[in-house]
Amino acid sequence: MELLEKTRIFEKEHQCDVSEQPAFHLTPAVGWMNDPNGFSFYNGQIHLFYQYHPYSMKWGPMHWGHQTTTDLIVWDRKPCALAPEDAFDDMGVFSGSAIEVDGQHVLIYTGVTGKEENERQNQCLAIGDGENYRKLELNPVINGELMPEGFSRKDFRDPKLWKDHDTYYVLCGNKDENDQGQVVLFSSPDLKTWKYEKVFACSGGKVGKMWECPDFFTLENRPVLILSPQNMQAKQYEFHNGHNSVYFIGEEKEDGLHFETPVQLDYGLDFYAPQTTLLPDGRRILIAWMASWQAPMAGENQQWSSSMTLPRELSFDTHGRLLQKPVRELENWYKNSIHFDRKIIAQIPEEITGVRGRYCDFTIHFTDNNFDEFVIDLAAGDYNYTRFTLCPHMEYMEIDRTYSGMEEDYVSVRKATYPKEGVRNLRFILDSHSVEIFVNDGEMVLSIVIPYVKDSDKITFACSHEATIDLDFHSIDADAIRKARKTL
Ligand code: FRU
Repeated sequence: MELLEKTRIFEKEHQCDVSEQPAFHLTPAVGWMNDPNGFSFYNGQIHLFYQYHPYSMKWGPMHWGHQTTTDLIVWDRKPCALAPEDAFDDMGVFSGSAIEVDGQHVLIYTGVTGKEENERQNQCLAIGDGENYRKLELNPVINGELMPEGFSRKDFRDPKLWKDHDTYYVLCGNKDENDQGQVVLFSSPDLKTWKYEKVFACSGGKVGKMWECPDFFTLENRPVLILSPQNMQAKQYEFHNGHNSVYFIGEEKEDGLHFETPVQLDYGLDFYAPQTTLLPDGRRILIAWMASWQAPMAGENQQWSSSMTLPRELSFDTHGRLLQKPVRELENWYKNSIHFDRKIIAQIPEEITGVRGRYCDFTIHFTDNNFDEFVIDLAAGDYNYTRFTLCPHMEYMEIDRTYSGMEEDYVSVRKATYPKEGVRNLRFILDSHSVEIFVNDGEMVLSIVIPYVKDSDKITFACSHEATIDLDFHSIDADAIRKARKTL
């Protein structure tokens, strides 16, 4: 039996019960997942594919898993879309993207062949109807040999495809002979014959090594390049050691566009390989793998490995900073909303009546930041808590999951740069296994994964001095979302 068919039967038979999974964060039906792939709108639905190894809880020969949604909250499971079973991808169907062309859904991905020094990565196409996909016989359509000598044929992956007028373009992650990350551009009139164009952007030794998972788009007339560079070095509280995901805003110069100043996309512990798509209503939506290669956390009895972030709407603020806001559709699933005006928070950690839960969305508004520390404990129980601390005078914010109930000591603390103009508001979104914190209407975001510990659902507030806050709290109807999800 062919691998794809076998995989579809396997995932149907072994899929997890939705009650064990996060309610509104995309999670694989079973087994391992990493990067989001092929995020696109096609035939009335939003499609998200992902790097997938259903057969174990570890990374293995990569497939493309598949789910769809109409509201970015309720994700329906679809049968596995692609398996590594052809001569041009038998070592893995790696990351890529998707667009619609003449009513058909076109997927482009990296086909991996060979091992060790003989490993090759090339770009391949598959065309389908939203459920079944046929790989092209002429694959690979973009062979690494098209690039100048010295550019790696082994690290050449994660094609991002778009169409501009009558020309198709693809950007791929790559590195040059000096181990410097770069993204390379190709063009085609018909998706089948491709021409190497140029190095679109390069690290110049400044932004990590291999550049993975490029995305490129125009937002409010500004060109934006998103990348996931490997092996970066920590730079104060802006970047951390290892894999980061960053964005650049392109600057037009005489010789073309330049991408020079990387900005961190997420200051938490679990965020990698983001992708965006444009929805028919004009919103540019970003989603990322909410995990990290350094610490892919999963509980011992868990049969699914990780989830994606909540999709985020992108825009710019008046200073030209990228803002990320949770998709507004989450509001349709609110229940029990409460509002508090001018609540005083002091030294003794305090619960606020009605403010509790593992499925919730709440925002704190500050009148000032005149304190040394403001501390919020989330998902707290008798022994567990996940702590978020604001330290305006020391100029950092900190997330700490050390005591969240983890089975092993993974990296658990991260400090983030304190916003220059202070913290006006903080929005917390909790699903069973994660916390996402949006600072100042999405100016900064911190995403982390935490274990689900039953009954650890308290939220407490404390302040080194006295702070006055307003608070909006909404529970999220996790049961209703889970009920609405379609399984295989
Ligand atoms: C990023 C990545 C991609 C690659 C995929 C393989 O996390 O390394 O560059 O296509 O994962 O699963």
